[in-house]
Amino acid sequence: MPDIDDSGQPSERPALPSDHFRSPFANDRAARATNNGGLPPDLSVITKAREGGADYVYGILTGYQDPPAGFHMMAGLNYNKYFTGNQIAMIQPLRDGTVTYTDATNPSLDQQARDVVTFLTYIANPELEQRHRMGVRVVLFLLFLTGLSYAVKRKLWAGVDH
Ligand code: HEM
Repeated sequence: MPDIDDSGQPSERPALPSDHFRSPFANDRAARATNNGGLPPDLSVITKAREGGADYVYGILTGYQDPPAGFHMMAGLNYNKYFTGNQIAMIQPLRDGTVTYTDATNPSLDQQARDVVTFLTYIANPELEQRHRMGVRVVLFLLFLTGLSYAVKRKLWAGVDH
């Protein structure tokens, strides 16, 4: 990975799990120039960054089709029924049979899109399951505390005449 060494010079070091993937493009303009003017989004947080989250990304991956009759397409763009404006610069990345699963799962477009979206959801929230577990513990503790407070209240007020 590119880094800055102790003398302030650019240097390379072995990659760490916390590093970002290297962009294949030198900068945003170079990215647009090779993608029909569209800027590929950062997929590491895409399921959090878009309204609809995982469902939206699944929609984009499976939403390619021929444009309806009379729809005016701009050159180089692709029709996608779930993209705003229906014209997307990204080529259709997945089709039936794009990959082969080692366990002989049928590589339908639906299956691949679900797997990619599940993975993208995980990498956008790697701590999600831990958070849910902690949430359950917090709720259990609050229930316990409520019961305890009620018991204490009954005890303290037991001898007081109303
Ligand atoms: C399975 C892999 C991929 C996934 C999950 C994915 C996902 C997405 C999504 C969800 C968007 C819409 C972003 C938005 O709402 O702004 C998008 C846009 C885009 N993607 Fe992909 N993508 C994939 C592969 C690729 C590949 C292989 C390329 C290039 C060859 C590419 C190039 C682009 C570009 C240029 C855009 C911007 C489109 C525009 O603004 O019109 N993507 N991608």
